[in-house]
Amino acid sequence: MSGREAEIAYRLTGLPFVTLKLAQTLDGNIATCKGDSKWITSKESRVHGHQLRAEADAILVGRGTVMADDPELSVRYVKGCSPTKIVLDTRLTIPLTAKIFGGAALILVASEGACKERVQARENRGAEVWQLPAGQVNLKMVLQRAVRAGLRRVLIEGGSRVAASALRLGLVDQLAVFVAPKILGAGLRSIGHLGIDSIGDAIALEEVKVESIGDDFLFTARVKSSCSRV
Ligand SMILES: NC(=O)c1ccc[n+]([C@@H]2O[C@H](COP(=O)([O-])OP(=O)(O)OC[C@H]3O[C@@H](n4cnc5c(N)ncnc54)[C@H](OP(=O)(O)O)[C@@H]3O)[C@@H](O)[C@H]2O)c1
Repeated sequence: MSGREAEIAYRLTGLPFVTLKLAQTLDGNIATCKGDSKWITSKESRVHGHQLRAEADAILVGRGTVMADDPELSVRYVKGCSPTKIVLDTRLTIPLTAKIFGGAALILVASEGACKERVQARENRGAEVWQLPAGQVNLKMVLQRAVRAGLRRVLIEGGSRVAASALRLGLVDQLAVFVAPKILGAGLRSIGHLGIDSIGDAIALEEVKVESIGDDFLFTARVKSSCSRV
């Protein structure tokens, strides 16, 4: 995720360069059906994940991830600055005690219909609140606003529903998928429903690279341009 790639993405689309990072089992789960995801991948993979964070201007996750994991979303295992955190929380129901309220800058993306007292309480805790037109947060609008705020390299870290939204809208440039040699069976799919009914409509990847990291494999790939920014 270089500055040059971000510059090209911005010039071509007016959007940030977006990397979708997943840490999944061999059978494509990012958590058990009860929501447990700590830790699917090895320490070495998590260190690499922090390197990806350090190269990003912003990390973006959904409310479900914060409620399940209470993550800090910071850079701890490598040297580097922690990026801005962007969290999709339509009705601002993530509690003020969540760890995301500490550390680097926090942007909460909510609907215009979110309760004013909740907005105020979160601003008082130091968060910036972006209010977008009512309904489910429009991810493309979030990314357009992120670019305007100077956030040109965005790392999406999940969960399943946010990953699906980003791919469905053609907003992902690159995937970084850590695959652990573990099987969970019917857990939480790493990517939620995409509405794809035929193999011919699958999102195609190119420039696929595979490397071994600790016990895991890291697949890095570009989303074919015909499948992105539609
Ligand atoms: N292993 C991994 O790599 C990894 C990484 C991250 C998370 N996880 C696991 O994934 C699970 C959470 O995933 P999840 O699918 O339940 O939740 P999620 O994708 O983290 O968050 C989904 C929520 O975000 C909000 N949202 C707002 N706008 C959205 C949009 N445009 N698209 C999608 N969501 C939007 C919605 O809640 P509101 O309507 O309330 O706003 C939605 O329910 C947890 O179990 C966590 O442990 C695993």
